Amino acid sequence: MSTGQIEFPVELVSLLRRTSKLAALTGAGVSQESGLRTFRDAQVGLWAQYRPEDLASPEAFQRDPKLVWDWYAWRREAVKGVRPNPGHYALAEIGKHVPEFTLIIQNVDGLHRMAGNQNVLELHGNIQRVRCADCRTFAETWDDDTESVPRCRECGGLRRPDVVWFGEALPRAQLEAAVEAARACDFFFSIGTSGVVQPAASLAFAAHNRGAVVIEINAEPTPLTAKADYAFHGKSGEILPRFVEAVWG
Ligand code: APR
Repeated sequence: MSTGQIEFPVELVSLLRRTSKLAALTGAGVSQESGLRTFRDAQVGLWAQYRPEDLASPEAFQRDPKLVWDWYAWRREAVKGVRPNPGHYALAEIGKHVPEFTLIIQNVDGLHRMAGNQNVLELHGNIQRVRCADCRTFAETWDDDTESVPRCRECGGLRRPDVVWFGEALPRAQLEAAVEAARACDFFFSIGTSGVVQPAASLAFAAHNRGAVVIEINAEPTPLTAKADYAFHGKSGEILPRFVEAVWG
């Protein structure tokens, strides 16, 4: 089905118009139309080309800090020239209409905030922040083009991107707030995420178990699709603006 043919059920539109509690979880798919690569799409996803255990784990950083640092410097560079797309802006628009809107993101690219989204819970950190791997002190500035990984001015430890790697815990306050929002909301959107990375993937199920209406917007079916009350398959940058227009326009 092409996006042009998607119809939003009348009962859903009318319920959404009256809701005051909405939560949305986003993944790499929402930034795909901005030109950033997803992780698990066949052929083009980052994990089709690289192995996460070589680049996105504490062990990888311990083994070869420079390789990991350079990979994130390359990804930071890719994010530099990139702008939010209509999907990011549509989410910011929802925030203007729904009093308790919580945007829970797995994205580390900063595009949601650039689009004007407030109250964003960053579950996986932010690629634009750098901190010490030992004492956690944040760096305001750093040089990406050095021979070796930059060191912390406070303790001399190695600097690393402030992202959550495989095997690491998510920031506790952000995760708790996300779980709380998923449990309390009336509507839960899962957008542009393959829904296979925990604990983020369990949020939609937590919302479903508490009686929320779960809506998936994704390029392809995921493990959530069968449980979702509504599933719209296509590009979020096309579906979300039309959804927002239908409900709050
Ligand atoms: N619109 C909507 N969905 C899209 C689009 C698009 N334009 N393009 C791709 N998708 C879908 C893909 O079909 C896929 O199901 O987005 C999903 C992206 O899934 P992943 O690449 O697995 O990304 P994500 O779910 O964010 O991954 C979770 O895994 O490696 C880690 O830390 C990384 O935060 C990331 C986490």
